[in-house]
Amino acid sequence: MTRPSSLWWQEAIIYQVYPRSYLDTNGDGVGDLNGITDRLDYIAQLGVDIVWISPFFKSPMKDFGYDIADYCDVDPMFGTLDDFDRLIAKAHSVGVKIMIDQVMSHCSERHPWFVESRSSRDNPKADWFVWADPKPDGNPPNNWLSVFGGSAWQWDARRKQYYMHNFLTSQPDLNFHNPEVQQAMLDSLRFWLRRGVDGVRLDAVTFHFHDKALRDNPVATVRDTSTVTDANPYGMQAHVYDKCRPENVPFLRRVREVLDEFNAVSIGEVGADDALAFMAEYTAGGDKLHMAYSFNLLTEDSSARHIRTQVEDFKRRVKDGWASWSVGNHDVPRVATRWGKGKDPRAFGKVALAMQLSLKGTPTLYQGDELAFTEADVPYELIQDPYGITFWPEFKGRDGCRTPIAWTDGPNGGFTTGTPWLPVAPEHIAAAASVQETDVDSPLNFARRMIAWRRTMPQLTRGDIEFLDAPEPVLAFRRTLAGERSVLCLFNLGGSDVTFTLPQARGAAKLPQPGLPGDVVDGVVTLPACGGWLGYEA
Ligand code: NOJ
Repeated sequence: MTRPSSLWWQEAIIYQVYPRSYLDTNGDGVGDLNGITDRLDYIAQLGVDIVWISPFFKSPMKDFGYDIADYCDVDPMFGTLDDFDRLIAKAHSVGVKIMIDQVMSHCSERHPWFVESRSSRDNPKADWFVWADPKPDGNPPNNWLSVFGGSAWQWDARRKQYYMHNFLTSQPDLNFHNPEVQQAMLDSLRFWLRRGVDGVRLDAVTFHFHDKALRDNPVATVRDTSTVTDANPYGMQAHVYDKCRPENVPFLRRVREVLDEFNAVSIGEVGADDALAFMAEYTAGGDKLHMAYSFNLLTEDSSARHIRTQVEDFKRRVKDGWASWSVGNHDVPRVATRWGKGKDPRAFGKVALAMQLSLKGTPTLYQGDELAFTEADVPYELIQDPYGITFWPEFKGRDGCRTPIAWTDGPNGGFTTGTPWLPVAPEHIAAAASVQETDVDSPLNFARRMIAWRRTMPQLTRGDIEFLDAPEPVLAFRRTLAGERSVLCLFNLGGSDVTFTLPQARGAAKLPQPGLPGDVVDGVVTLPACGGWLGYEA
């Protein structure tokens, strides 16, 4: 069974690069576009298909690029438009596609649109942002909260009004009810598509629209702890009016029309109380997003039951949509620590990667996860993330997963000749890419083998998924595809040896897979701590 070539992205692997922390080529301590270009051979050798680059556009960097001041230019810190053109050309020459990060929901307070909008109540951009009068007692117009803490409303003395911000006060929310705003976003998308980008990651894709009547959010009946921790009151509301509004669906269709003109693909970041429902809705029908990911597997819960529930739940609701399963990114503690606490990080990194690559959906890997890097410990004095500063020490922010990549075991891990913007973790330097290169059993070499092997297994890239009952911490599922032998996938996510008895009446043969520890004798698979087993069923 072959799949239409237009669905190539369903078989692909996405690799996220956080440009500040990839490789610095000019010694200013911050990674840059030329650094990514320099490492494209490494990326191609890893075997991934698409590189999603987090924002590199002009920005005051209050949220490290997720606060954009010019959608159509590169921040000098990262390089120039010419550097970007060279990056694209090199990527395409080594067979890698490039996906940029479009932050449509909000921009920087320094963006000329906001500077103009806040200057008066009747300028041409007056209605480009979400402005509201105070209540008679001076309070904000409603109870909406910011993900990064406090009210979602910030007072502006010039207009004597509040403006809305879902994140930092320096990230004003664009008013998508205004057709000019929608058009401006589609235009900036076209700007990059014309330069040759192959896809787009849509940041905060559920946040585009707000309720025009500004109704209060009701109290949450079930507190969502996947988007924020329980130290954050944001989870106490049901977010039905500040985001996830129905008007977003027709807007996403407009985005898709533009993408289709260029044969480009999209992945949306879905943050919602019931994120799986929006992942399903936004990717259904082939006329909105291609793929979506949520925070459902980015939580602290590493139990096999949790993973199974999320994937099964999505499967039940999805119809013809498509998930990208993400277990790590620049917003959450690294998976080798978050899920691998108390276990050997190398071993856990491998089993987590193998598990992720075996699930049904397009995997999105985060830079450094192929090296099984652990969460770095960044002391309070060095914390950069404003989110972490607000919620310290209950939530230490996102710097621990954003520290620079250690490429070598030399000074600063070979990341920079200057002072890195965040310290390079000593434990990463000891496990640097160059060190792993020469070790056949390293996480890096395992990742390369696993990715290459996955390509040869249509069951994994195109098949269906069906879970088997297994005692915790074993995650067991079967990948099936008409005309192919089904593949049994067993993963021990725990720190001790376990056994799993293969389903009766089905034989099994271990596949020549890339080196996870695990073996079968008389129908019983032994899985050592962090082991895995991938086998054909008879
Ligand atoms: C989601 C991004 O992944 C995160 O890093 C950012 O802070 C918020 N959106 C706001 O843009």
